[in-house]
This record gives sequence, C-alpha cells and structure tokens, in this order.
Amino acid sequence: MSANALAPTPLPPLIEDERSVTPAVLAAMANTDNARLQEITTALVRHLHAFILEVRPTEDEYEFGLRWIAALGHHTNETNNEVVLAADVLGLSTLVDLLNNDGGRGETMSALLGPFYRGNAPDCAHGESIARSTTPGPGLWFEGRVLDVDGAPIEGATLDVWQASPVGLYDNQDAAQDDYNLRGKFATDAAGRFAFRSVKPAGYPVPTGGPVGKLLHAQMRRPYRPAHVHFIVSAPGHKTLITQIFSDTDAALATDVVFGAKKAIVGDFREHQEADPDRYPDLEPPFFTCSYDFRLVKGAPTFPVPPIA
Ligand code: DHB
Ligand code: FE
Repeated sequence: MSANALAPTPLPPLIEDERSVTPAVLAAMANTDNARLQEITTALVRHLHAFILEVRPTEDEYEFGLRWIAALGHHTNETNNEVVLAADVLGLSTLVDLLNNDGGRGETMSALLGPFYRGNAPDCAHGESIARSTTPGPGLWFEGRVLDVDGAPIEGATLDVWQASPVGLYDNQDAAQDDYNLRGKFATDAAGRFAFRSVKPAGYPVPTGGPVGKLLHAQMRRPYRPAHVHFIVSAPGHKTLITQIFSDTDAALATDVVFGAKKAIVGDFREHQEADPDRYPDLEPPFFTCSYDFRLVKGAPTFPVPPIA
C-alpha cells in the first residue's frame, strides 16, 4: 500500500480571525448525510454568524443571551411551553404558518393552534351551547357554513371549537369553569351549516412569569391576545383548517402579541339589544352574533396533537 492512499483528507486552515470562523464551521458540517439537514444547519450557521458579526455582543451580553435561552427550558413544563411562546412572540410561528398555509387557493386563512387545545371535546347538536357551567358575560351566537373553494357546501364537516371565557380564561386555567366548558364539536348539515351558542370571548395575556414575559416588558409590549374563537375545521377529502376567528370589537386586534390576527379572519361581531328567540334561541340581550363561512381546499385531513390533555 502506498503512503498516499493512507494520507488523511487535508484539514481546513486553522482559524486566524473573525472572518475565518464561519467557513471553518461550514466545512466541519460538510459531510452531513441528510441533504435537508445539511441545508438547514448550514443556513442556521450562516445567519447566526452574520447576526453575531452585526451586533458584536460583549461577553456579558452573550452570556445573558445564552441564559435567556436556557431559561426557556427551565420554564417549560406540563402546562407551559416557553420555547413555543418565545417563537410565537417573535413572530416565527405565524411566519411558518403563513409559509405553509397562505390561503392562495381560496381556502380560509389559518392561525396558530395555540397552547390551549384539548382533544376529545364533546359532540354537540346544531345550535347547542358550549357554555356548560354558568359563565357570566354577554351571550354569543356563532353560525356559518363550511364550503369548498368553489363555494359548494360540505356536508358532514366537523368543527372542533374552543375559546376563553368573558374573563379571558380557558377551562383548565379557571377553577370556576367545568371541565370542557367552552369546548365542543359540531357537524355541518346538508347545506354545510353549523351553529352554536356560547358567551363572548375576551382577550387574555400570554404567560408573563418567565423569560418571555421579561422580554415583552423590556420591549414595552402588552402581552395580550385579542378575543378569538379557535376552530379546527375538517372534512373527508379536505385539508384540515386550523384557525381563529377574531372579534372586531377588540382594541388589541392590531397588537396581537403573537401576530395571529389577520384581516381575513376577523369576524363581524354584532351586538343585539333585543331578544330574537326564533333566530337566536335562549339568548338574553345584550348578546352578540357572528356569521362566518369557512372554505376548505381539497387534500388529506390531518389532526394536530393536543398540547394539553
Ligand atoms: C394562543 C395563546 C398563546 O399563549 C400563544 O402563544 C399562541 C396562541 C392562543 O390561545 O391562540
Ligand atoms: Fe386562544
């Protein structure tokens, strides 16, 4: 065997200055055997290095930043995912959502699933109330249709609905609410129609007790999400839609701390001062109504894993 055959691959030059670090790291990762992982990690290193070269952190600043990231893990537990929250308030989650669901085929725009989705919501009849315990606050009648992108009604579509109470708390955050209060599953009729009775949702703050709360405070940002109702709309042969319909009466609409509110998914919440028992049964004035039609594009239905049980 010749000496040549045993010669090791030539090593990259040793690091000399700040400009030689990036190529050295990229060279070290060059043999990644998964092409997509290679693409992602290479772009990550290029952008992180460019970021460091732009902001030129002091050592104290760098250490502070690493501690902030570590604190995201320390504040993540069964009921709070601080890593997701950080991604949300930095707009990353909404950006990824828009990249993958741009509404470009005429389907309703999506919005974040959020941390409060629970599986196994009770099946409900048309027009049934999802306010299972006495939930003070103005009533809400929400109705609409599920259509395909050509406007044809979809019969037998499922709407999995959940929302916060008029004080801005989900059932699992509030001892005063019954289990599965303000959650329910509805099916569309032959005309694609659904309807449910509820109470008007209120906006609420994201958790502010951890490193994300500290950042929001330093940025002088209000931690509020505008009032909304969550929907997972699914039907056989159609791509599942995960979205939120926002109340146009909420002052925090333009300052949604997680950038979920988009114009196309703001609902028209109308206040009624007179009872109308034929059209809106069991609702005492003042109450609100909202009518919204969802549009689904053809595709394979998928279902999200609930972040909480
Ligand atoms: C929702 C709540 C959050 O705290 C968050 O980070 C994202 C979404 C929500 O309920 O929609
Ligand atoms: Fe929510």
